[in-house]
Amino acid sequence: MAETTKTATLTLDGKSYDLPVHSPTLGPDVLDIRKLYAEADVFTFDPGFTSTASCESTITYIDGDKGELLHRGDSIEELAKHSHYLEVCYLLLYGELPTAAQLDDFTGRVTRHTMVHEQMHYFFRGFRRDSHPMATMVGVVGAMSAFYHDSLDISDPWQREVAAIRMIAKLPTIAAMAYKYSIGQPFVYPKNSLDYAGNFLHMCFSIPAEDYVVNPILSKAMDRIMMLHADHEQNASTSTVRLAGSSGANPFACIAAGIACLWGPAHGGANQACLEMLKEIGTVDRIPEFVAKAKDKNSGFRLMGFGHRVYKNFDPRATVMKESADEVLGLLGVDNNPLLQVAKELERIALSDDYFISKKLYPNVDFYSGIILEAMGFPTSMFTPIFAISRTVGWISQWKEMIADKNQKIGRPRQLYVGETHRSYVDVRHR
Ligand code: SDX
Repeated sequence: MAETTKTATLTLDGKSYDLPVHSPTLGPDVLDIRKLYAEADVFTFDPGFTSTASCESTITYIDGDKGELLHRGDSIEELAKHSHYLEVCYLLLYGELPTAAQLDDFTGRVTRHTMVHEQMHYFFRGFRRDSHPMATMVGVVGAMSAFYHDSLDISDPWQREVAAIRMIAKLPTIAAMAYKYSIGQPFVYPKNSLDYAGNFLHMCFSIPAEDYVVNPILSKAMDRIMMLHADHEQNASTSTVRLAGSSGANPFACIAAGIACLWGPAHGGANQACLEMLKEIGTVDRIPEFVAKAKDKNSGFRLMGFGHRVYKNFDPRATVMKESADEVLGLLGVDNNPLLQVAKELERIALSDDYFISKKLYPNVDFYSGIILEAMGFPTSMFTPIFAISRTVGWISQWKEMIADKNQKIGRPRQLYVGETHRSYVDVRHR
C-alpha cells in the first residue's frame, strides 16, 4: 500500500470529514474516499474517471505532461531500442527483466502453447466469412473457457499462470485464423522454429502452395509494434478486464471483454479509423478541409489518431512509431508512400494550429501504426486485432495483480440518479 502522508478535510453541511491522502512513488497524490459514503452519505461524481484512481498498481506509469511511459520503471524508449516483445511480456508479468535462462524458459513455455485445440477450427466455421476479425476474436477468445477447463480456477496460482501463458501464446494464432478465415484461405499452423512476431506473420501470410520466408525487417517492425502496445495503465479496455475479473469471471472471459472494449474507434479501433481517414483525405491539399471539420463542433468529426485522455504532450509511443514508419517504409522501398506524406503533413499542420495546441492534441500511438501495418500487407480490419494481441499481456498482468490483491472486491460504482421519483402504476386503459 502507498504511504499515507497527510489528510484532506472535506466540509459539507457544517460537518468536516478527514480523507487520508496517499503518496505514490510517481504521479499525483490520491484522496482516499472509500469511507466517504458511509461517513457523509454522499457519492463522488466522475463519469469518465478523469480524476479517479481505480486501483493501486506497480505495472505501468504514464506522465501525460512529460510524455513519459514506464513499464515496471523501464522507459518505453529504452525498451523499444534494446528489448523485444516476449521480454517485455516477462517484465510486465513478473516485475523484472528476465535473466537469459528465465527468458529462455519463458519463451519455450509460450512457444509450446501456440497451437489451439483442433476443435476450435470448427468453431470458426459458424461465422460469416465477411465477419470483422474483431468479432471473431471476441467470440473465439471467450470460447477458450469452453476448451481449457484446467485453467479456469482463478484461486489456483498455477492455473492463473497457465491461462496467462495460453492467452499470450494463442492470441496470435487466433487472430491469424480470423484473418485467414476472412479471406477464404486455409488456417496455417504455428511454426515453433520462428520467433513470436515472425510466427504471426507466417500464420497470416504463408499459403500451402508456396514456401514462405519471414522478412526480418517486417518481423522486427511487428515486434516493435507489439512492444509499443503491450500495456498502458488503466485505459478503457484494461479497466474493463479488471471490472470483469473483479466478479471472479474466468480469465478467458475477462480478456474477451477487454477485446470487445478495445474495438471502439475512440480506443483501439482508432488505428483502423485513422488509416481510413488518411485514405479519405488522400492528398496533402485536402488536409485543411479535414482540419476545419475536426475543429467544427457540429461536424462530429475528429482527427483519428489524435488526442489522448492522459497525454497532454506527445505520446512517446507515437514518436517511436513514426521513426519505425520511416525506417520500415524506407527499407521496403515505399518511403514515398502518399499516406505517410499525408500523415506527416497533417501532423505538421495540426501541431501548428491553435485549436490543437490549446486542447493539447498530439498524435497518439494509433496515428502511425496503421501506415506500417498496411505497408506490411495487412488490411485495415486486422489493425485492431494486432493491437489486441499486443495488449493481451497488459490485460493479463493487470488482471493477475488485481486477483492477487488481498483487498480486492467486486467493482460496483454508484450513480447520480436524476430520473422519476416514486409514482403509482397507471392501468393501460388510463394512459
Ligand atoms: C488509445 O487510454 C489509453 O491509454 C488508450 C490508449 C492505450 O494504449 O490503451 O492509449 C490507446 O485508445 C489511443 C486513443 C485513440 N483514439 C483516437 O485517436 C480517437 C480520436 N481521439 C479522441 O476521440 C479523443 O482524443 C480521446 C478519446 C482519445 C480522448 O478523449 P478525452 O480525453 O475524453 O478528451 P475529450 O473527448 O474530452 O476531448 C477534449 C477536447 C474536446 O473539445 P471540447 O469539448 O473541450 O471543446 O478535445 C477535442 C474534443 O472535441 N478533441 C478532438 C480530438 N480529440 C479530442 N478534436 C478533434 N480531433 C480529435 N482527435
